[in-house]
Amino acid sequence: MKILMVCLGNICRSPLAHGILQHIADTKNLGWEIDSAGTGDWHVGQCPDRRSIAVAKKYGVDIANQRAQHFTAALFDKYDRIFVMDRQNYADVIRLAKNEEQRAKVSPFLDDDIVPDPYYDDAMFEPVYAMVEERCQELILQLSK
Ligand code: 4NP
Repeated sequence: MKILMVCLGNICRSPLAHGILQHIADTKNLGWEIDSAGTGDWHVGQCPDRRSIAVAKKYGVDIANQRAQHFTAALFDKYDRIFVMDRQNYADVIRLAKNEEQRAKVSPFLDDDIVPDPYYDDAMFEPVYAMVEERCQELILQLSK
């Protein structure tokens, strides 16, 4: 299973989803490959935001070696599933899809909600971590059936 997590900058939310899901999948020896990307290209090549690195480290997940990449249409064919953090990410990714097969790979990370962008609010990194971690545990159960 190859999964791509997508947000805007690829430095706050999607690196957490990427790191947490990879960590759980590795613990269970599932052989999954998780990656992440941003619909914006401002942070390409950078490591995650220091606040995301810190909150992940606190819960035993190391995301410091990740580097931001830009979401491009070429990535549709590299992954089985693509999860987006909010509605704008969804619109931006879907706009690049060339056919129904590519569109069908794209889903909101949360079924009925968005993952709020914590970039401008230090206090949001803990709740975002908790939301993302809870959903990653569900995804492991749903997608490993
Ligand atoms: P992310 O957060 O999409 O969760 O990585 C953001 C990071 C950077 C910016 C916006 C959102 N930015 O505008 O630079």
